[in-house]
Amino acid sequence: MHFAKDFLNTLLQLLLLLQLCHSLDTTITSSKSIKDGDFLVSENQTFVLGFFSPGTSSNRYVGIWYEFSEDMVVWVANRDNPVNDTSGILTISADGNLALLHNSSRGPPLWSTNVSVSPVSNNSTMVQLLDSGNLVLVNQLVNNQSGVLWQSFDHPTHVLLANMKIGLDHGKNIFLTSWNSKNDPGTGVCSLKTEPNGSPQIILYKSRTKWWRSGQWNGLHWNGLPNINRQSNNHAFDIAFVNNKDEVTTKWLVLDPSVISVIAIDGSGSIQQLAWQGQRQGWVTIWSAPTDVCDKYGRCGPFGICNTYTANWEKCACFPGYEPNSPEDWKLREGSGGCKRQKGAPSMCKNGEEFVKIPNVKVPDPSTIKLDINLTMAACEQKCLSNCSCLAYASADVRNGGSGCMTWYGDLMDTTQFTQGQGQDLYIRADAIVTVQKGVKEVACQKGDAVDFDPYRDTTQDGSKTHKDLEYFDLKSILVATDNFSASNKLGEGGFGSVYKGILADGEEIAVKRLSKHSGQGLEQFKTEVKLISKLQHRNLVRLLGCCINSEEKMLIYEYLPNKSLDFFLFDRSRSSLLDWKERFDIIIGIARGVLYLHQDSRLKIIHRDIKASNILLDSTMNPKISDFGLAKIIGEDQIQTNTNRVIGTYGYMSPEYAMEGRYSTKSDVFSYGVLLLEIISGKRNSDYDIERRTPNLIGQIWEMWRERQTSGIVDPSLSPSYPVHEVSRCIQIGLLCVQEYATDRPTMSEVVCMLGKDTPLTSPKKPAFILQSSNPNSEAPRRVPSINNVTITMLEAR
Ligand SMILES: *[C@@H]1O[C@H](CO)[C@@H](O)[C@H](O)[C@H]1NC(C)=O
Ligand SMILES: *[C@@H]1O[C@H](CO)[C@@H](O)[C@H](O)[C@H]1NC(C)=O
Ligand SMILES: *[C@@H]1O[C@H](CO)[C@@H](O)[C@H](O)[C@H]1NC(C)=O
Ligand SMILES: *[C@@H]1O[C@H](CO)[C@@H](O)[C@H](O)[C@H]1NC(C)=O
Ligand SMILES: *[C@@H]1O[C@H](CO)[C@@H](O)[C@H](O)[C@H]1NC(C)=O
Ligand SMILES: *[C@@H]1O[C@H](CO)[C@@H](O)[C@H](O)[C@H]1NC(C)=O
Ligand SMILES: *[C@@H]1O[C@H](CO)[C@@H](O)[C@H](O)[C@H]1NC(C)=O
Ligand SMILES: *[C@@H]1O[C@H](CO)[C@@H](O)[C@H](O)[C@H]1NC(C)=O
Ligand SMILES: *[C@@H]1O[C@H](CO)[C@@H](O)[C@H](O)[C@H]1NC(C)=O
Ligand SMILES: *[C@@H]1O[C@H](CO)[C@@H](O)[C@H](O)[C@H]1NC(C)=O
Ligand SMILES: *[C@@H]1O[C@H](CO)[C@@H](O)[C@H](O)[C@H]1NC(C)=O
Ligand SMILES: *[C@@H]1O[C@H](CO)[C@@H](O)[C@H](O)[C@H]1NC(C)=O
Repeated sequence: MHFAKDFLNTLLQLLLLLQLCHSLDTTITSSKSIKDGDFLVSENQTFVLGFFSPGTSSNRYVGIWYEFSEDMVVWVANRDNPVNDTSGILTISADGNLALLHNSSRGPPLWSTNVSVSPVSNNSTMVQLLDSGNLVLVNQLVNNQSGVLWQSFDHPTHVLLANMKIGLDHGKNIFLTSWNSKNDPGTGVCSLKTEPNGSPQIILYKSRTKWWRSGQWNGLHWNGLPNINRQSNNHAFDIAFVNNKDEVTTKWLVLDPSVISVIAIDGSGSIQQLAWQGQRQGWVTIWSAPTDVCDKYGRCGPFGICNTYTANWEKCACFPGYEPNSPEDWKLREGSGGCKRQKGAPSMCKNGEEFVKIPNVKVPDPSTIKLDINLTMAACEQKCLSNCSCLAYASADVRNGGSGCMTWYGDLMDTTQFTQGQGQDLYIRADAIVTVQKGVKEVACQKGDAVDFDPYRDTTQDGSKTHKDLEYFDLKSILVATDNFSASNKLGEGGFGSVYKGILADGEEIAVKRLSKHSGQGLEQFKTEVKLISKLQHRNLVRLLGCCINSEEKMLIYEYLPNKSLDFFLFDRSRSSLLDWKERFDIIIGIARGVLYLHQDSRLKIIHRDIKASNILLDSTMNPKISDFGLAKIIGEDQIQTNTNRVIGTYGYMSPEYAMEGRYSTKSDVFSYGVLLLEIISGKRNSDYDIERRTPNLIGQIWEMWRERQTSGIVDPSLSPSYPVHEVSRCIQIGLLCVQEYATDRPTMSEVVCMLGKDTPLTSPKKPAFILQSSNPNSEAPRRVPSINNVTITMLEAR
């Protein structure tokens, strides 16, 4: 209401003023020109065309402005060729064009619509200013679309009016260019253009370099401008995006007829949407860009991500698997130097690489992408995976869960991560190490899909890692450290390869587990181990320092533990005497704590599945550390998992339900722990007993002696004569509780730790598993007992 009243007042005042001394026309014809001081108005008088001088300039320009706001010039004809006095004339020239002439000059026009008019000079053309603000040159003899010979909407200057479109339209490239300055409407350094390559987007250039971009059209909106068409609650604005072989255009729509709004660019490199506020008789900015630091094109350089939600000085982060190009000036230049692949990072070409999902982003500049509009997301992932040069992919159309395929091959430039839900998901190719590290969270949550990435969590302002990440070792440094894997450095042979001692250039001692090349499951188990152990920190777990992956070799680098493994001492007559009862008890407790941590205390619930003496390493103080997580599994709360294809583990330590039926749970580890406990006390291997001779195995023997209360027969002779009988027999009882046949009867690991720590009453153990009834051949047949072996084995089809 106010608006209309104000408008009418202004209009009346203006009309009154104009009628005093100037003419007010609605057309220019061959017989009717416009001279400086005259005006051409649109039919409903919203727009006015006339001569004006911007700011402090004395030059005269022909422009179009709003009738109610002459400061809002929306178009300029002779922007680069001003009239130096007030003798300019806008007229239909002899060739039928609209031309700007200088009265006293007979030279060429200062400006002309410059189209070919046929028939030439039949005085049939005329000019009209439409109510949309479009100035049109029409051939009056042609009463249809092709009668429009020229229109200012095809030649915009710095302002986009409602219903105007920019882009590529039947061979024409329509774009905006800024003024030089407030006093000079000449063609300035900034332009707003449609970039048709890859997936089309709108780019604001400043001095020919990219300054800001909208992001590509994702089916709903510009990827980088999620709210442009939903700025007001009543949905006043919209965008009509057309992309076909004839045109790639964006038409800006103002849906609410009571709203007057324009989009303008200026010479400083700013794009603004302004709206007229009748009450205040002024224009207000309702949206502008760039505003956030992250809006600046390429703010964080190649392979960098800008985060809209962090403080200014820590805007930038690197993609997973990438590190700052120059860590020295990362902070100095606020991350703008960009990122490169991490030093020593494994190859990402058919080397176990996967994709890491980066949610809610303005995807990298898509002007060099490959676009396959018909691919599904699954096919898109495959397409990218199969080409080693492909570094990322994303859906081209986010509607209906995503379809179409954008794949990136070069530098990933200008990626911004939004706070939430605004952008779209980007999938980054990442090496095996990155994906297994990021994978932990994912596995723990039992989700499928690629891994989420939160760069803020993973990288700090100076580009260093916030959490203890694994180090990448290059093959060369490992070769030097291990003397080319010399035999003299070999520490042992594990299930999946050999272990070597090494000394790094800085003197640090390491143990290198080198996966055997021929191990079929090598990479999977390798990943599992890295995934698990990199997240685990406990004094009774061996510490993983890093890894080394290349196409040939897969290696894990551990802290070096000088005192070898428990079996080295335990099962050797001469060395077993080095372990007195106190040390053995500390080892028993240490292992229990380590297993408990895996089962309960760590963020994940992990079943080790291969607890045995050779997997217990000893540090310089004989503190035990559990190693070899190649078989470990992460499971949900109190879950029992079944693996019917493969039973992997070590016989002698394997619980019956696992060995026979492939069912494993934390109670399988408890069983293995019980066997180990009894081995530590007895100094004998459970597996040293031969089935063929049908003698009971270690557990069977201990069970028999326990029932006959012959504790001394059980205990390792090298512990004699002095050991605390009560404590030792209590430990035997705990061991027997752990190896009971039925998993439900066995204590949990926390109960074990509790029983070891406090002198509480213990329950009586039931019959353990795997007892051979050698004394009575007529009793029930023994359960099937697998061949006995002290190495980790893999058995196919256990059922
Ligand atoms: C103004 O421009 C016209 C033609 O463009 C030229 O003939 C004339 O000399 C100029 N006048 C001045 C004062 O520069
Ligand atoms: C051109 O200028 C002369 C004198 O300066 C004036 O008489 C004449 O009317 C002008 N012509 C037009 C078309 O304005
Ligand atoms: C008109 O167009 C022709 C050909 O494109 C060009 O050479 C000429 O300079 C233009 N004239 C004006 C006044 O813009
Ligand atoms: C065009 O209009 C001019 C001025 O009104 C007139 O002198 C001329 O004869 C006309 N030409 C034709 C071909 O109608
Ligand atoms: C010029 O226009 C007139 C009508 O205004 C028409 O009768 C005549 O045929 C036209 N001449 C040409 C050469 O098209
Ligand atoms: C003038 O016409 C335009 C286009 O039809 C319309 O959007 C606008 O509301 C009209 N203005 C007035 C004051 O009638
Ligand atoms: C427009 O009109 C002209 C002549 O009146 C005719 O030749 C042309 O085919 C028409 N074009 C369309 C698109 O109708
Ligand atoms: C995409 O699919 C549509 C419909 O099946 C088909 O017409 C079009 O040719 C396909 N485009 C490409 C590039 O394969
Ligand atoms: C991988 O993609 C790039 C870019 O599209 C292409 O040039 C190259 O030939 C592709 N390589 C293979 C092996 O397909
Ligand atoms: C390791 O092997 C490489 C090449 O096989 C050889 O050049 C180098 O001298 C060897 N280093 C040692 C310490 O044996
Ligand atoms: C364990 O290692 C430390 C340091 O290497 C050594 O001093 C100690 O004698 C070792 N203990 C045994 C029992 O070998
Ligand atoms: C089993 O352990 C014994 C004692 O450490 C060892 O001599 C034997 O070689 C091992 N068997 C295998 C198959 O590794």
